[in-house]
Amino acid sequence: MTTTTLQWDDSLLLGEPQMDRVHQEFVELVARMERAGDDELAPLLEEFATHTRAHFEMENQWMTETAFPPRECHIDEHAAVMKSVDEVRVLLAQGNTAICRGLIQELVRWFPSHAHHLDSALAHWVSKLRTGGKPVVIRRGLTLR
Ligand SMILES: [Fe+2]
Ligand SMILES: [Fe+2]
Repeated sequence: MTTTTLQWDDSLLLGEPQMDRVHQEFVELVARMERAGDDELAPLLEEFATHTRAHFEMENQWMTETAFPPRECHIDEHAAVMKSVDEVRVLLAQGNTAICRGLIQELVRWFPSHAHHLDSALAHWVSKLRTGGKPVVIRRGLTLR
């Protein structure tokens, strides 16, 4: 039960530097929770919750400030994830480590698809507004033609 299944790699880069940095930290926090023993879970989940609240608030703020057209479902998804995290924080404080392990597995499954389907559109939008063009993502190991 010590295998880490969410790891940062260049396929998760979206080309918006601030978002990419926050996402890398997110992935590292999830990986630390995956590797953690039961008695280490509570402080890590608290750290993850604080980080993720700030991560989602940053993106929500970008979406509202720039009137990003498909913001409703993206903001709703952040709220749903945060609600689950907060529910698990309460249950973990009561000793329910199994529900916390379940949440970690859900986060591992959820994040890449959220990043590729919702965050990527926002990264493009923000970069486009900033520079007038789509971001250029250079992934290590790519052969550029
Ligand atoms: Fe994100
Ligand atoms: Fe997001």
